Amino acid sequence: MKITIRNAKLTDAKTIADFNYSIAAETEHIVLDRKRLLRGVKALLKDDSKGFYILAEVGGRVAGQLMITYEWSDWRCATFWWIQSVYVSKEFRGAGVFKHLYRHIKKRAKKNKLVCGLRLYVERSNSRAQQTYEHLGMRKADYNLYEIDFVIKRSGKSKR
Ligand SMILES: CC(C)(COP(=O)(O)OP(=O)(O)OC[C@H]1O[C@@H](n2cnc3c(N)ncnc32)[C@H](O)[C@@H]1OP(=O)(O)O)[C@@H](O)C(=O)NCCC(=O)NCCS
Repeated sequence: MKITIRNAKLTDAKTIADFNYSIAAETEHIVLDRKRLLRGVKALLKDDSKGFYILAEVGGRVAGQLMITYEWSDWRCATFWWIQSVYVSKEFRGAGVFKHLYRHIKKRAKKNKLVCGLRLYVERSNSRAQQTYEHLGMRKADYNLYEIDFVIKRSGKSKR
């Protein structure tokens, strides 16, 4: 199976939004607002300073995606690339699609002197994704993640 990687364009927005909708449903059982999601995808595709998406194609079809956003590290005087919105279509899973996306982005990040590393967060119960990341050489970080989300409501929230 030949897998090719390319940067996403504005015309890919609908595909990316559909993939993101599926990630939320499959991994977090959340139903996203499709209109807001599409606006969010387009906003990034129109503004390089927010980040970028790369897509994996198989036989001219989009099989998988990931998004990169940026985090400045004053400790390192450089930028972490955050890998987000990771998704591979069910029919293409287990065939190396994510491995190609990951290797591409790692190579590109290493070549870029302004980038100090890659980071990502993953749902605690998503063992398949965790095993995939560890298999590809990523290390579980020493941090817990905290947040206040003003948009998406979840159970088990703080009372404040
Ligand atoms: C997680 C996901 C992205 C993996 O994509 P994929 O294309 O199926 O993964 P690949 O086929 O490229 O596998 C990459 C490597 O991880 C390994 N791997 C995959 N699943 C594994 C598992 N459960 N345990 C151990 N290794 C695993 C593969 O064997 C492969 O290594 P190899 O080529 O040396 O054999 C895909 O399952 C997915 O889209 N899941 C739903 C969305 C999701 O969970 N997104 C992540 C949100 S953080």
